[in-house]
Amino acid sequence: MHSKVTTQILTICVLTICTTALWPLPLNYTHGSTYLWLSPDVTFSYQPNSGVNLTASALYANSTSQNATNYKASTGLDSYSIVQAAIARTQDELSNDGFVPWKFHPRNSFFEPPSNVSYRTITNVTIQQNSTDPANVLKPLAGAVDESYSIVIAINGAVMINAVSSVGIIRALETFSQLFYTTADGSSVYTNLAPVYIEDAPKFQYRGLNMDIARSPFTPDDIMRTIDALAYNKFNILHLHATDAQSWTLQIPALPPLADLGAYMKGLSYSPGDLENIQSYGAYRGVQVIIETDVPGHTAAIGLSYPDLVAALNVQPGWSNYSAEPPTGQLKLNDTAVYDFLDKLWADLLPRVYPFSAYFHTGGDEVNANVYGLDPTVRSNDTKVIQPLLQKMIDHNHAKVRAAGMARVVWEERLLEWNLTLGADVVVQTWQTDTAVANVVAKGHKALAGDYNYWYLDCGRGQWIDFSQSTAEAAWPFSDYCTPTKNWRLMYTYDPLAGVPANATKLVLGGEVHIWSEQVDGVNLDNMVWPRACAAAEVLWSGSKDASGKNRSQITASPRLGEMRERMVQRGIGAGPVQMIYCTQNGTQCTL
Ligand SMILES: *[C@@H]1O[C@H](CO)[C@@H](O)[C@H](O)[C@H]1NC(C)=O
Ligand SMILES: *[C@@H]1O[C@H](CO)[C@@H](O)[C@H](O)[C@H]1NC(C)=O
Ligand SMILES: *[C@@H]1O[C@H](CO)[C@@H](O)[C@H](O)[C@H]1NC(C)=O
Ligand SMILES: *[C@@H]1O[C@H](CO)[C@@H](O)[C@H](O)[C@H]1NC(C)=O
Ligand SMILES: *[C@@H]1O[C@H](CO)[C@@H](O)[C@H](O)[C@H]1NC(C)=O
Ligand SMILES: *[C@@H]1O[C@H](CO)[C@@H](O)[C@H](O)[C@H]1NC(C)=O
Ligand SMILES: *[C@@H]1O[C@H](CO)[C@@H](O)[C@H](O)[C@H]1NC(C)=O
Ligand SMILES: *[C@@H]1O[C@H](CO)[C@@H](O)[C@H](O)[C@H]1NC(C)=O
Ligand SMILES: *[C@@H]1O[C@H](CO)[C@@H](O)[C@H](O)[C@H]1NC(C)=O
Ligand SMILES: *[C@@H]1O[C@H](CO)[C@@H](O)[C@H](O)[C@H]1NC(C)=O
Ligand SMILES: *[C@@H]1O[C@H](CO)[C@@H](O)[C@H](O)[C@H]1NC(C)=O
Ligand SMILES: *[C@@H]1O[C@H](CO)[C@@H](O)[C@H](O)[C@H]1NC(C)=O
Repeated sequence: MHSKVTTQILTICVLTICTTALWPLPLNYTHGSTYLWLSPDVTFSYQPNSGVNLTASALYANSTSQNATNYKASTGLDSYSIVQAAIARTQDELSNDGFVPWKFHPRNSFFEPPSNVSYRTITNVTIQQNSTDPANVLKPLAGAVDESYSIVIAINGAVMINAVSSVGIIRALETFSQLFYTTADGSSVYTNLAPVYIEDAPKFQYRGLNMDIARSPFTPDDIMRTIDALAYNKFNILHLHATDAQSWTLQIPALPPLADLGAYMKGLSYSPGDLENIQSYGAYRGVQVIIETDVPGHTAAIGLSYPDLVAALNVQPGWSNYSAEPPTGQLKLNDTAVYDFLDKLWADLLPRVYPFSAYFHTGGDEVNANVYGLDPTVRSNDTKVIQPLLQKMIDHNHAKVRAAGMARVVWEERLLEWNLTLGADVVVQTWQTDTAVANVVAKGHKALAGDYNYWYLDCGRGQWIDFSQSTAEAAWPFSDYCTPTKNWRLMYTYDPLAGVPANATKLVLGGEVHIWSEQVDGVNLDNMVWPRACAAAEVLWSGSKDASGKNRSQITASPRLGEMRERMVQRGIGAGPVQMIYCTQNGTQCTL
């Protein structure tokens, strides 16, 4: 089938049809079917175009964090060091992925470069950056950094990568690494796709995973492994839902009891050093880590150390009148002591996360009005009484976040249910309905998509609540509120722009896929998130529609996703299989 250097079949797969390698699908990807070896000593040379300064970036500029300042001084994080680190990772992947793609070729067929023909070898890769990085290159507001890139692999083995920014180079190197396979004897690395021509850029500028690290403890390694997997899929945001009713995970040196008493166990929390390590790990991979401290709801864990600040703390029995999950409790709404507490929290936390984050998430979901009937500083569950108090609290908090230099993100309820007035630049994260994105942009706000009916990875696992003998019958078969499981095909059909008028699509920054952790911990994390989150990655990078405006084809996506899963497994991510091998070995038999 594949034989000589001179025979090449050009496969054109502009915007859509392409069943070979690469996830998410590039904007423009054409390839042939000629083999090239990759030299084990392949070199990467990183060159600026004339006038481009690779040592000019200053990720940590304006930081008030002593540690961040030290970090910059000790590592000199600039375009050059970002890209050198990405090159080192790419070389490691190319040598160690060890991905032998037998599952994607007919049973017992031979698909490797035949040994009686000699093929050209890629010995060096030239990388050119054609613009100086902006100072905020690793913590941009959505759209502030150009992630576009191009890759050309000529039939003679010459390779040229071009990008506007160092983050674009990170994306390009990820794509490059996915074009190569290892021979079954493990001795050599090759591509069967030369010549390759790729021109790529993301459809959406904000492509994230929301990870609930409060309900279940995760190690920094779990989070960093997740960052790796996000980078493989060209996500650029990891949103850590860092605090909730059940546990307070962030050590706040100005308020030591918060984590000492609020974590599930003393020490089961993130030190400032841990958080900085996680954030800088993300920065090196083009994954901005943003932190959420959810207030005023979901705060019962604060009551473990500061019980006087929390209303309706741990009401039992009858918790379901006051919150969606036990334990109940919300910050008191009209209490100067709560404001004093928040000011200490913000003064400690915000300057520490600012060096790595353009955004800070202030939560605001599921505020329960009944709680304030029990709040001695309010004594009313009337939304007309509560609304101005919520407004006052958010205005206060957002002034602090703004002063700390970050844009604010909030859950949709603040805008759509409480009708709060938000700063014009506040980003509203939707989750409850498939009309919420359109409703948010209709109010002139920037929106993040992530409807739970499509993009909640935790759904469909069944209840985690235990039912008594009297409640069990009605609850049988114990499905959770968002059952069924959101399979990758369903996730793949979700369009962040659905229902959004053309003149408002620019307000849709992108979206997040969500992993809530009531039934997830480090043991099943990878399998719960991957490969399903890959489907969201492709929607956010490539768009949910193909060139003809139709939903993307599952038939061409499925084998590509299967390949991506294998590659992720080789890189240490415990992603589940997409299909049985019977299907992937012959890409047409499992089709309806
Ligand atoms: C993709 O690349 C081909 C080959 O250079 C070019 O003809 C085509 O216009 C490009 N399409 C897009 C959508 O950029
Ligand atoms: C690049 O920027 C750095 C930091 O601003 C500066 O020290 C250096 O002189 C610049 N190099 C060139 C070649 O302009
Ligand atoms: C630092 O502050 C200056 C002046 O306020 C601003 O122009 C610059 O963009 C800031 N840099 C970063 C990385 O935030
Ligand atoms: C793939 O499946 C088709 C349809 O059943 C069959 O005709 C073909 O022989 C199969 N090819 C291989 C390589 O198994
Ligand atoms: C290489 O070997 C294969 C099978 O052994 C044969 O079909 C093919 O013609 C050979 N090619 C050359 C160029 O000798
Ligand atoms: C810079 O690189 C981008 C990405 O490859 C490309 O689209 C653009 O045309 C390049 N610009 C210049 C001036 O070379
Ligand atoms: C780089 O690769 C090109 C194309 O394969 C080749 O012509 C050139 O000799 C290589 N340069 C070095 C320094 O290896
Ligand atoms: C600073 O970094 C060190 C590790 O280098 C860490 O132990 C410490 O907690 C950090 N302190 C702050 C305030 O971030
Ligand atoms: C307020 O409390 C009353 C009496 O318990 C209840 O009927 C009403 O539904 C509550 N209102 C809200 C908004 O929860
Ligand atoms: C809030 O507290 C102040 C001071 O205690 C009080 O005067 C005011 O009536 C309270 N507001 C509400 C809505 O309860
Ligand atoms: C917010 O506005 C909606 C739509 O007008 C209304 O249904 C809702 O009651 C309002 N909420 C509050 C807290 O005023
Ligand atoms: C889009 O157009 C409609 C109708 O002209 C207008 O009401 C709306 O404000 C526009 N939206 C944006 C975001 O410009």
